Amino acid sequence: MNLILLGAPGAGKGTQAETICAKLKIPAISTGNMIREALKSGTEMGLKAKSYMESGDLVPDEVVIGIVKDRLQQDDCKNGFVLDGFPRTIPQAEALDKMGVKIDKVIEIHVPDEKIVARMSGRRVCEDCGASYHLLYKKPKVEGKCSVCGGTLVQRTDDHPDTVNARLKEYHTKTEPLKAYYEKQGKLVVVEGQEEVADTSRLTLAAIEA
Ligand code: AP5
Ligand code: ZN
Repeated sequence: MNLILLGAPGAGKGTQAETICAKLKIPAISTGNMIREALKSGTEMGLKAKSYMESGDLVPDEVVIGIVKDRLQQDDCKNGFVLDGFPRTIPQAEALDKMGVKIDKVIEIHVPDEKIVARMSGRRVCEDCGASYHLLYKKPKVEGKCSVCGGTLVQRTDDHPDTVNARLKEYHTKTEPLKAYYEKQGKLVVVEGQEEVADTSRLTLAAIEA
């Protein structure tokens, strides 16, 4: 099954990708994580993306399209994948179609803006392995420490309220038009993402199996 998770920043795409991937045994492909990794290891692509990411803007299409194209050619994508955070613009969706990749379903996790800003202020991520937590909704076993690798939990630099607002603006102007794009292809399913993580997982898995 080839899936796309669509939704505002902080809607819960990464969280739900984890559940879907564990259940269907397919990889999650998060362009956000891939860009953060590139930034950490100081690659040319990471350096190109840095200023965009830090100000909450989208990274240029050609940069992201290139990394997704390479990633989808790897062996572990043969039985399916979940795209988390890609495509995010119409040109990215068109590029994906041109790659000849057949998408089965596009699931939009819907959360209104006012809930997003509050949710993002509580997110903490592991600075070593990138695992994601929440101060209220997904607490680590030991405060401030990653339950996977023991690394220190920090706030993402783009999770400060001003940057979150910039990311929401980018989402509404550049990414939301994808809903109509995939609705026209008969692939869009909208899932409510405001309730607890487990409720959203139940709705998301039901949408995939329908
Ligand atoms: P990216 O890393 O993709 O960020 P995003 O889309 O803004 O999404 P997030 O990772 O912030 O949120 P999420 O929806 O995955 O939510 P999560 O599950 O973590 O991208 C970052 C940047 O990279 C972009 O701004 C851009 O610059 C660049 N980029 C990436 N892809 C690109 C592309 N294709 N084109 C161009 N540029 C690109 O949940 C959030 C928090 O809420 C967590 O703490 C979680 O524990 C908690 N939570 C989740 N679900 C619930 C729930 N139901 N109830 C309560 N808390 C919950
Ligand atoms: Zn960790």
